[in-house]
Amino acid sequence: MPVKRVAVIGAGVSGISAIKSCLDEGLEPTCFEGTNDIGGLWRYEEKSEVGRPSIYRSLTCNTSKEMTAFSDYPFPDNYPNYLHNSKMMEYLRMYIKHFELLKHIRFLAKVCSVRKRPDFSSTGQWDVVVDVDGKQEFYIFDGIMVCSGHYNYPYLPLKDFPGIKKFKGHYFHTWEYKNPEKFLGKRIAVIGIGNSGADVACELSHGAKQVFLSTRRGAWIWSRLWDNGYPIDTVLFTRFYNYINKWLTTSMINNWAENKLNSKFNHTDFGLQPEHRFLSHQPTFSDDMPNHIISGRLQVKPNVIEFTETTAIFEDGTEEEIDVVIFATGYTFDFPFLEDNLKNIDNEHTMYKFVFPPFLDKPTLAFIGILQPVGATIPTSELQSRWVARVFKGAKKLPSQKDMMVDIKRTRDKLDKQFLKSPRDTSRVPYVQYMDEIASEIDVKPNPFCLFLQDPKLALEVLFGPCTPYQYRLQGPGKWAGARTAILTQRERIIKPMRTRTLKCHQPPCSVLCWLLGAGLSLSLFVFILAING
Ligand SMILES: *[C@@H]1O[C@H](CO)[C@@H](O)[C@H](O)[C@H]1NC(C)=O
Ligand SMILES: *[C@@H]1O[C@H](CO)[C@@H](O)[C@H](O)[C@H]1NC(C)=O
Repeated sequence: MPVKRVAVIGAGVSGISAIKSCLDEGLEPTCFEGTNDIGGLWRYEEKSEVGRPSIYRSLTCNTSKEMTAFSDYPFPDNYPNYLHNSKMMEYLRMYIKHFELLKHIRFLAKVCSVRKRPDFSSTGQWDVVVDVDGKQEFYIFDGIMVCSGHYNYPYLPLKDFPGIKKFKGHYFHTWEYKNPEKFLGKRIAVIGIGNSGADVACELSHGAKQVFLSTRRGAWIWSRLWDNGYPIDTVLFTRFYNYINKWLTTSMINNWAENKLNSKFNHTDFGLQPEHRFLSHQPTFSDDMPNHIISGRLQVKPNVIEFTETTAIFEDGTEEEIDVVIFATGYTFDFPFLEDNLKNIDNEHTMYKFVFPPFLDKPTLAFIGILQPVGATIPTSELQSRWVARVFKGAKKLPSQKDMMVDIKRTRDKLDKQFLKSPRDTSRVPYVQYMDEIASEIDVKPNPFCLFLQDPKLALEVLFGPCTPYQYRLQGPGKWAGARTAILTQRERIIKPMRTRTLKCHQPPCSVLCWLLGAGLSLSLFVFILAING
């Protein structure tokens, strides 16, 4: 029996793509959102609310707009490449309006429980209890898409920090941090060098007396701005590099990346050098950090071993007066509405391709966006949703439980070998590779070889250009007529927002030689593609 009615839990970016994908496949989605608005993580609020994500006022996306877009809805060309959270919200609202998704969302509707119905093994149906304004409502759904995200519960490991309870100053998690005003002239310790730790430490060090950034591990710091000022992801996340990477060893990639990052500033001299290699742990995005370190506003420190009433004592024996401690120690996640045996499974990430729990009699429960793509979240969630919608509809079958378990184990072993065993790293996936894997499930993965025969211009951009989400709308179910144009104009959209002072410059016309060169290059390329496909 095909699934018809689908409950989508949460109206953040994953929930929004889930609704859209259900509608595209003719399913009937009902999205339950606990708050009164869309956007999830991206919606800035002055106050943090328990059980919800919470961001600071300055939060800016760490993936660029062309890589971050929904696959059939590019960002307007005048939008900056890296979007402030308020711009991201504008985009989400435009998307919702354009595809008329709002009427499928119920606000202030908190899902309390999702349970298998007694006849689950034949129907795959779920009993869902929703709290609306203190009143319970009961529903039966054919499918569930969990889109509630994984930044809801701040992780505050106070027990690892003896003396913190004695500390007389203010301490809190970055989840509570909003803006720097209250912290002018203070001495501040930020604990943790993930993306939030780096952001908050840099932002505060403009006006604080001194900021200390304490890290146990150190980190590789990369920046949004890459060579020639292009957004890093548009340069590195290409299909071409994805092929090349398959031929290189991990240590070759590590050497290349580490040299590249060290050539900007020496990680050893800046106190940041980690013990782990570049690929084994999530690098931190910070364009500002080296500038703050070199101007002394920010000092990198080792782990804090103890707090006293007024100071922090670090592992190297140094002690510093501190007024404020900010823990940038990450998040844990939880799905309080699920049965225990389902909840635990996702904490360990033993799901088929991070989406389907493998042991259900019917594949009618799916998790969207519960992973750490090394790349943008929106396209990943969107592609997962498209796959799930196909499966729910009955147009696509999952492998047997046994085969799924084999695949999960294989993925797990591979990731364990590659990454450190930390909560975030257990769900990290290489972007292009993961996208292609999911795309293959629903037959929307572009094939540069075939493309080359039909449309060489497009093929070149698909192969060498940024692996933008529009590539997954060129063919197959959900094909979008605008995809080709979107791909061929993506570079214009990258440049446009910065060209706000027009310069008159003349470009020399392309000579005969240059055409010949181009033709030769295309030919060798063709041979190359033949080789990788063969
Ligand atoms: C970084 O600095 C360390 C110590 O000062 C030095 O040994 C190392 O060679 C430098 N690395 C690079 C890539 O220059
Ligand atoms: C962007 O930041 C988030 C939050 O720290 C992180 O989970 C994600 O991996 C980052 N993106 C990339 C491409 O590193």
